[in-house]
Amino acid sequence: MLHARSDGEYSHGMATSHFWHTLPRPIVGLAPMNGITDHPFRYIQKKYGNPTLLYTEFTSVRRLEIGDRDIARDFLFDESQRPIVAQIFGHNPDLFRRMAILLCQLGFDGIDINMGCPSPSVVDHGAGAGLIRTPDLAQAIIKATQQGVVAWQNGATAHDDPGIPADLLHQVEARHAELPPAYRQPRAIPVSVKTRIGYDSPCVDGWIPKLLEQNPAAIAIHGRTLDQGSTGRADWDEIGCAAELARGSGVVMLGNGDVTSLDDAHRKAATYGLDGVLIGRASYGNPFVFRPGDRAAALAQNPYCLLQIALEHARLFDATISQGNQQRFLRMRKHLSWYARSLPGITALRRRLIVTNSAIEAEAALAEYFAYRNRWAQQLNSAGP
Ligand SMILES: Cc1cc2nc3c(=O)[nH]c(=O)nc-3n(C[C@H](O)[C@H](O)[C@H](O)COP(=O)(O)O)c2cc1C
Repeated sequence: MLHARSDGEYSHGMATSHFWHTLPRPIVGLAPMNGITDHPFRYIQKKYGNPTLLYTEFTSVRRLEIGDRDIARDFLFDESQRPIVAQIFGHNPDLFRRMAILLCQLGFDGIDINMGCPSPSVVDHGAGAGLIRTPDLAQAIIKATQQGVVAWQNGATAHDDPGIPADLLHQVEARHAELPPAYRQPRAIPVSVKTRIGYDSPCVDGWIPKLLEQNPAAIAIHGRTLDQGSTGRADWDEIGCAAELARGSGVVMLGNGDVTSLDDAHRKAATYGLDGVLIGRASYGNPFVFRPGDRAAALAQNPYCLLQIALEHARLFDATISQGNQQRFLRMRKHLSWYARSLPGITALRRRLIVTNSAIEAEAALAEYFAYRNRWAQQLNSAGP
C-alpha cells in the first residue's frame, strides 16, 4: 500500500516510490507537443479534461549552453497542472545533468527525455529519435539526467552552475520560492523516456531492453518509426511487444499514437497490456477527449462551451505568453480555429478567429458571432406561427 508523505513523495513499505506508481490506471495523459502544449493549453486541458498527467513541449538542453533567458517562461506551469513532466532533448549528457537540476528547482514532478522527435533539425545532431541509433549515448543521457536529480537531492542548485545567466537564475529562484513547501524540498524526481518503435524499421526487441537497463521511471512509446514521421498508422502490436519486454521491471509503460477518445484509450491499454496511453492530436480544441462521452456529451449540455473555453484560453495566453506582443499571439490562432471547428454555421467566425492578434480581438469576433446568431434566432421566432 502507498502512503503519501509530507514532501510529496510516496513510501511503499521501506522503498521510496515515485508519482508514476501512484497514478490511477489506466493512465491517460496529454502527450508532449511542440508548439501546442504550452502553459495555457495545459491549463485548459487539465481544467476541462483532467488528463492523468501533462507533459510540457520539448526544450533543447542546448539552451543552457547558450544562456537562453527565456527558458523559465517556456517552463511556466501552475499548481493545477500537477503531476507535470518537463520534456527535454539534446545529445550532450552533461547538459542534461545541468538541466535536471534546474527543472528540479522549478518544481516539476518528473523529467522526460525525448528520444522520439523525427525532425531533421533534431535528428541530424544525434538527438530525439536519432538516439535509437546510438543506444550507448541514450543510456549515458538517462544516467546523466538521473545524476542531476541526485545532485539536487544532495543540495546542488542552479546557483552552483556558472553557465546560467544571472537573470535566468533570478527567475528560477523566484519561481522556486513561490512553490508550496512540499515541492521546495529536495525530492527524487523520476526520469522517464518518450520514444518510437524504431528508426527505419521496428526494433523494440533491441531498443527497449537498452532503455530498461537504465531503469527509467516510465517509457512512453509512439507506434511509428522515425522514418514514418506522422504518416501511416501507429503499430500497436509493436507497442504491445515493448510492454511485454518491460513486464515485471517496474517501469511504467505507456502507448501512444492515433488514440481518438477515452474509450479508445482504455481499450488499447487493456488490449496491449499497458499502464496507460498518451493522447496528442485528438486533444486539439477538445479537452473533453479525456472525458467519458467526449465532445458530444459536453456540447449536448452547452453547444457554445468550446467557444467560451476558446476565449478563456486566449485570455490566459495573452496574460502569460504574448503579453501584448502580436507576433507571439500567432501560435494561439490555430487553437481558436480548432475550438470552433465542429459548430454549425461557424465558417465566417473561423475565418475571423484565424487572423486575430489578441484575446480582445478574439472576444470581439465571438461577440459579433453571438449577436448575429441572436438576431437570427429572433427573426426565426418572429416569423413563427
Ligand atoms: C505538432 C506536434 C508536436 C509534437 N511535439 C512533440 C514533442 O515536443 N515531444 C514529443 O515527445 N513528441 C512530440 N510530438 C509527438 C506526440 O507527442 C505524439 O507522439 C504523436 O502526435 C502521436 O500521438 P497522437 O496520434 O495521439 O497525436 C509532437 C506531435 C505533434 C503533432
